[in-house]
Amino acid sequence: MRTTVDYDTLWSLEGKALLPPSLASFVQQFAGKEDLIRMHVGLPASETFPFLGFSANARRCDELVAISEPGSVSAAQQYSFGPGYPELLKWASNLVMRCHAPSVPYEIVMTAGAVHAISNIVSVLADRGDTIVIDEYAYVHVTECVLLPKGINLLPICMDSHGMLPNHLDQQLSKARLEASAAGRKPPKLLYTVPSGHNPTGLIMTVERKHKLYEVCQKHDVLIIEDDAYYWLQFYQQQKQQYVTATGAHVEDESRREQDHNEGRSSPSVQSHMVVESDRFTTATTSCSSLPGPSERPALDMTSDTPGLSQLPSSFLSMDTDSRVIRVDTLSKLMGPGYRLGWVTCAPKLASKLAMSVQGNCVGPSSLSMVLLESLVRTWGETTFEDFVRDTQRLYQRRGEVAFKAATQQSLRV
Ligand SMILES: Cc1ncc(COP(=O)(O)O)c(C=O)c1O
Repeated sequence: MRTTVDYDTLWSLEGKALLPPSLASFVQQFAGKEDLIRMHVGLPASETFPFLGFSANARRCDELVAISEPGSVSAAQQYSFGPGYPELLKWASNLVMRCHAPSVPYEIVMTAGAVHAISNIVSVLADRGDTIVIDEYAYVHVTECVLLPKGINLLPICMDSHGMLPNHLDQQLSKARLEASAAGRKPPKLLYTVPSGHNPTGLIMTVERKHKLYEVCQKHDVLIIEDDAYYWLQFYQQQKQQYVTATGAHVEDESRREQDHNEGRSSPSVQSHMVVESDRFTTATTSCSSLPGPSERPALDMTSDTPGLSQLPSSFLSMDTDSRVIRVDTLSKLMGPGYRLGWVTCAPKLASKLAMSVQGNCVGPSSLSMVLLESLVRTWGETTFEDFVRDTQRLYQRRGEVAFKAATQQSLRV
């Protein structure tokens, strides 16, 4: 069933109340007039900024990465109003197109990383007392520092080694809808999940599972927040033809889990690193998703030892037909968490609300980070960026194999 999501019916009270900041339009009025000091909108004179240029020693560059053009030097030290530094937005948009090729209209909003993105998404779409669907083992920082403090109720769904169980999701959403309608409450409309290198279990959701979960979300009109923090860090486990990530771990067998769940033996509660029973994991470093079928992604290219950018598994965003996927990317794991930089790819209406929300809580991510990283990826160019991604994947693959071997030997000894 194809139904394009109508975001105008979904805003939280906060989301509804957000209006385009007038300050941003005042800034636009005098854009390009560099001889003006735009103190009427609080923009200090760029001639007073202490740095006259930046240069950095970066991997894979013969020369220093230099930021010397006056407009960029000023932009790196000035406020960034709107969805982000335009040149970096362009780069991110090309990357999204290359990796996910969304078939629905989308826009990108830069944020100060993934957690900031998720916090803003929840603010504009959920009110205190609303329910959000999560994995039974959920990323603890999001539950503890974002969802629970905002007064969100959590609806955990059972998982197996391929991710959330679609049947359990369907049942829980049906039940929640009935309960919500009896109590005059809103039914759950948001699902939060981490499909690659799931935190804390490390598993990688199969593409087939994503399709099934997407269908259940369509049926119940639920939006999917796809937090794909480890997306670029996936690598092949050559012997098993599987995708693995650095955080990979094995969760118990799917059929047993499904059977347990159908027979009422499993009742999930919210779990985290601290409370996971260790015997549910075979190792801390291996993972477990079989390759999706050839119709879903290109055949595994065994001449290449890493997925790079072109052989990564299909995302929820890539299969979205209704604009119900809200994809969160972060540069934290690929470039470094210190930049505090990530972005949301979503329907244009939501993107503009998110940009307004970000304006309200930090006026925009760090301009210096955006200008610096844009300068780096421009200096690198596409090929060097992909080489960098491949080398990163190789490093985690090598380290993962060492840890896997050590863990296997250890478990044989016990
Ligand atoms: C699943 C997941 N999402 C998000 C983050 C944090 O991302 P960021 O630094 O971009 O806020 C982490 C970090 O551990 C994570 O594991």
